Amino acid sequence: MATASAPGKVYLFGEHAVVYGEPAIPCAIDLRATVRAQTRDDGRVRVNAEDLTFDGVTVEYAGTGESRPDIDVPDTLIDAAFGYVETAIESARTLAGDAASGIDLTIDSEIPLGAGLGSSAAVTVATIDAVSRALGTEPDRTTIAQQAYHTERTVQDGRASRADTFCSTMGGAVRVEGDDCNRIDTPRLSFGIGYDGGSGDTAALVDAVRTRRDQYQVAASTVAAIGELVRRGESALITDDRATLGELMDMNHGLLSALGVSSRTLDDMVWAAREAGAPGAKLTGAGGGGCMVALEATDEVMTALRHAPSCEQSFATTLTTTGLRREAE
Ligand code: PMV
Repeated sequence: MATASAPGKVYLFGEHAVVYGEPAIPCAIDLRATVRAQTRDDGRVRVNAEDLTFDGVTVEYAGTGESRPDIDVPDTLIDAAFGYVETAIESARTLAGDAASGIDLTIDSEIPLGAGLGSSAAVTVATIDAVSRALGTEPDRTTIAQQAYHTERTVQDGRASRADTFCSTMGGAVRVEGDDCNRIDTPRLSFGIGYDGGSGDTAALVDAVRTRRDQYQVAASTVAAIGELVRRGESALITDDRATLGELMDMNHGLLSALGVSSRTLDDMVWAAREAGAPGAKLTGAGGGGCMVALEATDEVMTALRHAPSCEQSFATTLTTTGLRREAE
């Protein structure tokens, strides 16, 4: 048996603009997905998954690479999640040069699905590592990050940035610009996360921003302004200037609103955190619903989030420098 875990992430700055070549800064958080992998002799693949939003879904299939698992759960999110798992298993089999062995996989995730916290990247990264090792090979982190990116790209029809998978593999805060990904030295940060219980459709939201950007010069300028803000945010992060960091997060949220990707529930939670004294708060990820992030998980911020009418669940978490971790059996 091989066990691996990988963290989720929040975007401090730059989601959506990163699609147009601007920089972004995602940051790994201390909510993790853990994957256990074991080989089996019959060549079949069996996946058991459990997370915050659903428990105990089990899927079994032939594992030939051709037969998609037949998932008896009427939920496109879960269907999509198994798409990542299946592709990640194939990727690990290729790395190990073993297309025949069956796999038993157990996924345990603390990261809400499809809510902007990078659950698919964390599951993909941990799956590639655990399955590769169960099959007898130990890829290095750079290889895992690369394979995880290709997995996301395949599942998302070519629309994926390296941000989530690189951040989840390496941990810490990361600056991503095109194919360039680098870790940034950061201070200890804590975050209050508010989750409205919903999710946004990343592909549809990316398309909507593209349409708005093509249609209005002001939307194109907004995307460029986010890029400028990210560059400023990077220095605020390095010098641990929390007031500026917070102010720039607020501005980033406003610019994402202008691009049409916020929602009433996200705005409600963002304002609840600000009014409770958070230096800054913004949506994280594709938007449309899901999660927002507030800088500093103070008692006041966490209480305000817990009581915000739109908030279904809240989490206090911290930046983690631990990316992919090989766990004891
Ligand atoms: O919601 P998430 O975690 O999938 O983040 C999407 C981030 C986007 O910038 C909107 C798209 C991307 O691939 O970078």
